[in-house]
Amino acid sequence: MKKPDNMTAATWMISSALLEAEDLETAFTHTLEVISKLLRAEGGAIWILNKSTGLLQCVMCIGPLDLMGITFENGIGTEGQVVTSENSVLIRETEKEEAFEGDIFDDQGFKTKSLICVPLKALDETVGCLCLATSREGGIFTEEDLKVCEHTAALTAMIIEEKGLTLTLPPEKPVLMELKDITKEYPSGEDVLHVLNGINLKIFKNEFVVVLGESGCGKSTMMNIIGAMDYATSGTIQLEGSNFSAPDEKTLTEFRRSYIGFIFQSYNLMPNLTARENIQFIAEISKNPRDVDEALALVGLTDRAGNFPSQLSGGQQQRVSIARAIVKNPRIILADEPTAALDFKTGQEILKVIEDIVHSEDTTVLMVTHNAEIAKMADRVVKLRSGKVSSIKYNAHPLHAEELVW
Ligand SMILES: Nc1ncnc2c1ncn2[C@@H]1O[C@H](COP(=O)(O)OP(=O)(O)OP(=O)(O)O)[C@@H](O)[C@H]1O
Ligand SMILES: [Mg+2]
Repeated sequence: MKKPDNMTAATWMISSALLEAEDLETAFTHTLEVISKLLRAEGGAIWILNKSTGLLQCVMCIGPLDLMGITFENGIGTEGQVVTSENSVLIRETEKEEAFEGDIFDDQGFKTKSLICVPLKALDETVGCLCLATSREGGIFTEEDLKVCEHTAALTAMIIEEKGLTLTLPPEKPVLMELKDITKEYPSGEDVLHVLNGINLKIFKNEFVVVLGESGCGKSTMMNIIGAMDYATSGTIQLEGSNFSAPDEKTLTEFRRSYIGFIFQSYNLMPNLTARENIQFIAEISKNPRDVDEALALVGLTDRAGNFPSQLSGGQQQRVSIARAIVKNPRIILADEPTAALDFKTGQEILKVIEDIVHSEDTTVLMVTHNAEIAKMADRVVKLRSGKVSSIKYNAHPLHAEELVW
């Protein structure tokens, strides 16, 4: 008997597997397993567009990578482009194609060699995409592989629709702040320096967000705009559902004093005030401050309250600056590299304090870091690249500070 070609094999194997699937997760796994095996792919993933958030989210993956929960802004990354344009993409060798924007998976030790990404269409609507990849040591996909993939995606979408399978995405927390298409430009001689190029980001109530990205990609600029220490060139900001793009001076001052707490790499303490006085000073200008001694106790500094900054270690000074941020009772704490100047053990202790604040208080923490290990503690990891959000990953099981090693 003649050996069936890949197209016939895919049709037969996927139809028979999918027809038995009772839920969407099983259906997606079957599709990915069959198609990866046929095309000798090392990994595969299915991404679905979440209509309420506009984010493209990985809902199923097989292979060496853990992509579950990673999201793209629609239109960003190969996956985002495929869904918006509704056109398939075949990248034979990533190294030879300039259009390939680099790996988002480098932190998981996977370098893509060849990539196929095809839209998943239900009726006339594109609901997501299917992607397959080979690694640096693997093979190169062909036009025929692309056709098999497109055929598989069409078949999968059709059967899923026929069976009425639906996907339940995790519920979202209430949104505190939303950045929409935020840009930031600086004049640079004759030219303009584009620092932020359309940031879209929601900040949820009581979550721990870690922001990663190369030096100069705009992390501090974004944090300063969130904290109203700087203003955006264009775009809008919503604060708990209301427009906060051009607040008056009084609203701004109130927002900075009560809503936001800042923690920096340098502690910025007043040298002529004691630890307690540094915190007291901020409490006095806040609208709804916490008890100063309670803030000192939360960071474990009760017995050093009377010391001046010069009498405290780096870690202790950073604790004072955290107490100074939390004494305001802020909704959002912005921490820009808070552990960068500290040794491993002291850094870990500071992270433990921050972790306790997120878990026991009604506070959101956004932390910028260069240390990818710290990202394992976060509920969400936001990566910036060239002034844009390049990916968002949800950690199903965030680690505790004491479990981190660097
Ligand atoms: N006030 C300013 N005027 C002109 N350019 C600026 C200004 N502030 C920042 N930039 C530029 O904007 C870009 C982004 O800076 P930003 O400080 O946000 O980067 P970052 O991601 O925080 O980097 P790092 O990890 O090194 O702290 C840089 O190229 C920087 O030189
Ligand atoms: Mg910075």
